[in-house]
Amino acid sequence: MDLGLGKVISETREQILYAVNHLPKNSIPAAFEDSIKIIWRHEDMVPMIIEKKLLTINGMPYLEQKLSKREKLRQSTEFIKKFFGNEPLETERNEGWFFIIHIPPGIRYTDFLKEQQRFADAVMGSCLIEREGKAIKVWLSNLQLKTMYHYQFDPNEYQDHYLPVPFGISSRGPIIKDIADTHWFFAGETRYGKSNLIHCIVYSLLLASSKNKQKSYICIVDLKRIEFPEFDEWAWRVTDIKGAVFMLLKITEEIKRREGLFAKARVRKIQDYIYKGYELPFIVLVIDELHRLQDTASQEMLKTILAVGAGFGVIVIGSTQRPSSTIFEKVKFGDLKANFDGKVSFRASTSTDSQIILDNPSASYLPNIKGRAIFQWDCEVEMQTFYFPLSPKEEPQLNKLLAELGQPRFVVKRSEPSDVKPQKGLLPGPKNTRAPGGPLLLDDRSNSYFGF
Ligand SMILES: Nc1ncnc2c1ncn2[C@@H]1O[C@H](COP(=O)(O)OP(=O)(O)OP(=O)(O)O)[C@@H](O)[C@H]1O
Ligand SMILES: [Mg+2]
Repeated sequence: MDLGLGKVISETREQILYAVNHLPKNSIPAAFEDSIKIIWRHEDMVPMIIEKKLLTINGMPYLEQKLSKREKLRQSTEFIKKFFGNEPLETERNEGWFFIIHIPPGIRYTDFLKEQQRFADAVMGSCLIEREGKAIKVWLSNLQLKTMYHYQFDPNEYQDHYLPVPFGISSRGPIIKDIADTHWFFAGETRYGKSNLIHCIVYSLLLASSKNKQKSYICIVDLKRIEFPEFDEWAWRVTDIKGAVFMLLKITEEIKRREGLFAKARVRKIQDYIYKGYELPFIVLVIDELHRLQDTASQEMLKTILAVGAGFGVIVIGSTQRPSSTIFEKVKFGDLKANFDGKVSFRASTSTDSQIILDNPSASYLPNIKGRAIFQWDCEVEMQTFYFPLSPKEEPQLNKLLAELGQPRFVVKRSEPSDVKPQKGLLPGPKNTRAPGGPLLLDDRSNSYFGF
């Protein structure tokens, strides 16, 4: 006699399969809500989710663009497949959720932000928190970042950026920023990808310089001596302290020259100067292995450049493994650090190290993956930096990239005098802010060492 058991069993199996495949759809909001309840269990009022939305492929990185629905769908699907190697989010295993949160009086935004890592852990993925007016926006996703994304970047899409730079991929999409206003500091344990990220950035700036209207001039202090020879045709690289002193001196002088130009044009910063129709390149000063810059004169000049340079279009990117207050003898690292607004920290071995770099422990929780880092600037998010091809077997790829750069843009001067000392009074400072010498003509290039 058939009791219909076979049907029951198969129905049960169907239900279990349905549950396994479909119920996780709500696991992220549930986990998020649970964490909120646990964290603020002693409060009368807890942060409240006032809106939640499952991010379908439409909701992914192209959300902000004014494109037709169909085009959005096409681009987003392509994007997710390319960068994450996964099927788009509509397959239930990968979820992305967006929340709008209200925080009650008594709980501060910074208290909420501090729990970012906890929310990320709760969903075994990543979390991004941003504030917009009174609302707090939270993206939670369990989309797993891949361990490698090959470098790729098209500066043409960023014509409105002065210095467009791709940092990497987060679970919300590529992180591409205009670095024109900001000094950057990269840190983290050895061999996790600081120099690789600098390669990506230098290359991207050179590429943008060759293709976009806004130009930049790259100065590299390569105290390891062997890290950045690829860019010698397009950038000015020095490999020892003597060269670094000379380079920093020339940049300091250029800042003074620009003070004169800006005063004459009645502008306060480079963006306004360019807006008025003048052409002036940004100078990006890259110092890898910052801790090796053990020379008081160059440290002092660096301090000045960090303090006043950004407005004059001089951007600094510094990198070192483990910053500590005693990294330099005379100049306090804390004083320098305050001027680096943007930070990227690769894995840090202790939470104290991460704290010194990011003011929070998140870099010590990073997985043991090369290129994985915390990006901290206008938002804080985990990312996988792009991989730049540098090993001997990748020479063809590197050559192809370099060929894209075309002819060197600026004449790079390498003649460094044998004994360089900064002369008194050359450092721009409160007492000496006027340009030296006679009147500067706006189109007079002879005053610039760089030949701009
Ligand atoms: N984004 C990345 N994706 C994959 N692999 C990477 C990535 N970045 C770096 N690596 C790998 O890690 C190695 C070390 O990277 P890199 O030399 O940039 O580290 P570092 O932090 O500058 O180290 P050090 O402090 O010793 O100078 C590279 O040779 C590369 O193989
Ligand atoms: Mg390095």
